[in-house]
Amino acid sequence: MPNFVGRDIISMDEFSREDIMYVMRVAELMEKNKYPELLKGLIVSTLFFEPSTRTRLSFETAALQIGAQVISTTGAQFSSLYKGETLQDTAAVIGGYADVLVMRHPEKGSARALADGTDKPIINGGDGPGDHPTQTLLDLYTILSAKGTLDNLKIGFVGDLKYGRTVHSLATALRFFNPELYFIAPKALAMPDEYKERLDNAAVKYHESENLDDFIGEVDILYVTRVQKERFTDVEEYNKYKLMYIIGNDTLNKARKDVSIMHPLPRVGEIKTEIDNSPNAIYFQEAWNGVPVRKALLALVTGRFKLEDQTQSGKLVKKNVLLTIGSEDNKKKMLPDIQQLATVGYNLYATAKTHKFLKEMGVENTQLHKISDTGKQPNIKDFLEQKRFDIIINIPSGLGSEEATDGSLMRRMAIEQSIPLITDPQVAHFLIAALKKEA
Ligand code: NCD
Repeated sequence: MPNFVGRDIISMDEFSREDIMYVMRVAELMEKNKYPELLKGLIVSTLFFEPSTRTRLSFETAALQIGAQVISTTGAQFSSLYKGETLQDTAAVIGGYADVLVMRHPEKGSARALADGTDKPIINGGDGPGDHPTQTLLDLYTILSAKGTLDNLKIGFVGDLKYGRTVHSLATALRFFNPELYFIAPKALAMPDEYKERLDNAAVKYHESENLDDFIGEVDILYVTRVQKERFTDVEEYNKYKLMYIIGNDTLNKARKDVSIMHPLPRVGEIKTEIDNSPNAIYFQEAWNGVPVRKALLALVTGRFKLEDQTQSGKLVKKNVLLTIGSEDNKKKMLPDIQQLATVGYNLYATAKTHKFLKEMGVENTQLHKISDTGKQPNIKDFLEQKRFDIIINIPSGLGSEEATDGSLMRRMAIEQSIPLITDPQVAHFLIAALKKEA
């Protein structure tokens, strides 16, 4: 079970799928129940060195609702940072006053610098164009509430994908949920390579275009963003892009009927108010979700709340299965079982030949490289290290040296992580029959 006590919340890169679902479940409890004394006696410090309304106020609302007290500073010009104090020193001092530090700062990497200065938990409320993990968790919570699942969704991101930290964090977090992503931005504001590489390494499918019309009919969710004026040195350049995409009734007419329109807010013209009352517009609900999600985070990092029952939101998350099936014979023999797995909703990952065979048979699956193909990504090794498989079905064809290396590494890691490992087709058959019953 995830342990958040004393943990810094800095980037979505550091969250596993289990961590995310754990926060979702605690946030749900925070929304349904009142815990007015949970953080009694604790002090939450909000340090906001960059403009913010929602993030700071929803953190403060969250802290107050569960009984903490809040000390706050806003604007670098009113703080010692302006006098040239380092973030480590700020952290050392405030860490002596408060039990949790929440910071927003204009520089990427600043949250980590703050964390280096204190043992108290740090929560990143946005570090320049870098990450914005708490926004992502509330975005995921919003998606889960709207769609009933985080899995297999088609999600479009439109606007400033270069500087939009909410996009960077959300796209990173979605890698666990087998999404198909659509990036819509002018070339100058396209999704940076750094984040695309993360997605490549996690075998996430994505498409890019400058034209919203290319993808609007596809997506389940359209995540709209503001062009981040404060990151531009040239106002002309900003003016050129600021209203390149405007979402209104005409956009909804081209979209799927059940499309959800999200926006981290503030909006500055990129969504017309004419759609505010449509059931597709969920951006205000999204902003309100900041409170339960931030309550959950504060309660978890201070160690004041733990889930007693271990039931995760298991039903909400599709399970990942790795398939590596040696001989042609076994591939054919196991095809009906694998088809069953796909129909009851498992995500299938497979090594090259199994991938190709299944694809030809019309079974959707994602190819991963073998551990012995060092450096080639997406790689099974990374998936194992990130604890992303729930079941491994590995039917070796013989004892070739490569198979022996890959197999033994896989088996060892599977045991270490208590992942069920099936090496026999008949056992796989019975297991899949049992899973089908449960589904
Ligand atoms: C976002 C941010 O600060 O990155 N706002 C927020 O936290 N809700 C998005 C933005 O400012 O455009």
